[in-house]
Amino acid sequence: MGKVSYGKMVIIGAGNVGSAILNSVLRMNILDNIVVVNRNQKKALGEVLDASHTTAFAYSANADIRVGGYEECADAQIIVITAGPSIQPGNSRDRMVLLEKNVSVMNDIMEQITRYTREAIIIVVSNPLDILTYIAQKKFNYPANKIFGTGTLLDTARFNKMLGDLCGVDAKNVTGFVLGEHGSTSFIPWNTVNIVGVPFDQLKEQFNLEEQPDKEKLLHDTKVIGLDIVELKGYTSSGVALSACRLIGSIVRNEKSVVPVSTVLSGQYGMTGVAMSLPCVISKNGIDRVLELPLDENGKKDLENCYEHLRTAITSVYP
Ligand code: 2OP
Repeated sequence: MGKVSYGKMVIIGAGNVGSAILNSVLRMNILDNIVVVNRNQKKALGEVLDASHTTAFAYSANADIRVGGYEECADAQIIVITAGPSIQPGNSRDRMVLLEKNVSVMNDIMEQITRYTREAIIIVVSNPLDILTYIAQKKFNYPANKIFGTGTLLDTARFNKMLGDLCGVDAKNVTGFVLGEHGSTSFIPWNTVNIVGVPFDQLKEQFNLEEQPDKEKLLHDTKVIGLDIVELKGYTSSGVALSACRLIGSIVRNEKSVVPVSTVLSGQYGMTGVAMSLPCVISKNGIDRVLELPLDENGKKDLENCYEHLRTAITSVYP
């Protein structure tokens, strides 16, 4: 186990998502020491070479980016896991179809990583994200504050964009978390949603809307839009890449930003035995704190439903 090299990141997987993260991190100049690990080394080399030429135009001029093996994890500050198959157009529009295959991929990856480090902060991006995050943490006894998934940060971005558009304001002015599963049982605690302090129920008057935004439609559209993108372009990559960048930036710059990420619960809302997204404070140490938003009766029911769904899926592969 090596000493951590701050500013060093290993990306596992050089598919559409891994390479989008590589390019976004370089473009945003978040860090400049990046290793790509991929079973198909040829593909990884192609991605690394292509990305390296962007440094002639971007600010990350001295970035050191290369292909490597798992031993590169030994001194990494951050490891991002994107490997494994992703959902395909025309299949069941359910990330759970990837469950068995990607649990096995995740096992192999965690076996490799833990040979070299328990210090790095691991960001899980592969699906079904919450189940993989849970098994990776539990089975390998990885420090729970140092492994989490992009989770509903992506759904939150999608929801904030939709609600911002409806009200004619910047998505960044929306405070509204999507929580729970990055999947069919995600939910929105509506009592906490607001735009610069204007509660959701008062948006119609404040923003001169013809009607009050429809909660069910917003939640439904938030859930299906990623699957629609898969139908349209074959995969999703841009949104998830910037979700990962948001987390990587918060770690590297010790921002202590509050973002929803998938974390293994340790008694929040009285629950254990699952990973799901709750708002977390992200610093150079990983997760500093998990916040429990005040939920109304509907929020509590949604949380319970999400929990049952995730528990059933977890016990089917990790009894
Ligand atoms: C997404 O929501 C497919 O999980 C991926 O973009």
